Amino acid sequence: MKLFTAVQILLAPLALGAAVTKVEKKVSYDGYRAFRISTHNDAAAVSKKIAGLDFVPFNLDTKDHMDLAVAPKDVATFEALGLETSILNKDLGADIAEEAKFAPYETTTIGTAAVPAISWFNSYHAYADHQTFLNDLQGAFPANSELISAGTSGGGRPLYGIHIWGSGGKGSKPAVYFHGTVHAREWISTMVVEYLTYQLLTQYSTNTTVKAIVDSYDFYILPIINPDGFVYTQTTNRLWRKNRLTRSGTSCVGTDMNRNWPYNWALTGGASTDPCSETYKGVAAGDTAEIRALVALTTTIRAAQGIKLFIDWHSYGQYILTPFGYSCTARPTNQARQTTLSSGLAARIALSYGTRFTYGPSCSTLYATTGSSPDYMHAVATAEFAWTIELRPSSGTSNGFVLAASSILPAAIEQWQGMLYLLPTM
Ligand SMILES: *[C@@H]1O[C@H](CO)[C@@H](O)[C@H](O)[C@H]1NC(C)=O
Ligand SMILES: [Zn+2]
Repeated sequence: MKLFTAVQILLAPLALGAAVTKVEKKVSYDGYRAFRISTHNDAAAVSKKIAGLDFVPFNLDTKDHMDLAVAPKDVATFEALGLETSILNKDLGADIAEEAKFAPYETTTIGTAAVPAISWFNSYHAYADHQTFLNDLQGAFPANSELISAGTSGGGRPLYGIHIWGSGGKGSKPAVYFHGTVHAREWISTMVVEYLTYQLLTQYSTNTTVKAIVDSYDFYILPIINPDGFVYTQTTNRLWRKNRLTRSGTSCVGTDMNRNWPYNWALTGGASTDPCSETYKGVAAGDTAEIRALVALTTTIRAAQGIKLFIDWHSYGQYILTPFGYSCTARPTNQARQTTLSSGLAARIALSYGTRFTYGPSCSTLYATTGSSPDYMHAVATAEFAWTIELRPSSGTSNGFVLAASSILPAAIEQWQGMLYLLPTM
């Protein structure tokens, strides 16, 4: 008995320590109400009014509106302020629970090959299923695709993706490079990037329009480049944005990967030097495992084939953003062409469901950013076109980051239609 107690005393602290570092309590948004507040170019006045309240901010550009989720204890106080608002999520926790009803993974057959069923796009999915989805999709089309990995995340997860080519053979055409889920909570970006991949592969042999597109480019597509953050949104905090990198000297976790690219990184005003900020840039340009890996990948692609188009898929706000983010006056030398194509893309996207996308240079259209991917990809990786697309939603009647699963297919279909314009036209 005495010995037993001694063993217990020795083991108990170890077991407790392991539990503390491993299991973090899931953040509850039950009863949180998400609002859009009209700011009419005076966000400061709104901020002052809501200063004492408990809320989670959503958007960075607050000139026109401020989106936030108010904690249940402060909802009544907030509503009594008389601000001009609309509701994004009536009960954010309830919408998160609804969104977490992942449909089972199913396959179907095309010819003799088993491919993921189109029902994949009826719900969101667990991280492991996303890997299965891409493995199975690629496995069905081995003649013109291969799985790739840019490297590993800080947490040791693969930065996996797929390379697709056409009749010219592997590596023979200018590259189109897409990646998604840079910001962990932007789940719709994962699904849209997967839908584009699905269409390119499954329609290649039967549809002449799609065949012509795939025959013209080598596609490199990475649906989830922030896997550590993405997993964290599923286990712990649905609204997590950054990666999960810990650094010495701070208890705050995570770097904003889209402020970490090594181009004009050191300029001030477009990112934060505070490790606790949602837009924390890191301590040096490209000092995250993910961005290092992606710089290496895109450097290789650039050298081999050149990059025609890069799109960094995000949500939300419905924007097509062209370079640059670091300056509101600097313009690419091919600006006229960028304007023509981005306006044409917005027009094509709108044809499916009337969804309106705003287009224009990133800094002057939305806000200043330093170390963002389009600046790097255009200026350093010399991608002819390097854009950010901020997907649905935008309007005050729909959700924010927690977009209903029923919107996945429409959000994806309108982008696919947009790509059917952009890819053959550019
Ligand atoms: C080819 O695919 C495009 C885009 O999905 C579609 O609009 C078109 O109708 C298809 N053509 C044929 C012959 O199926
Ligand atoms: Zn984002």
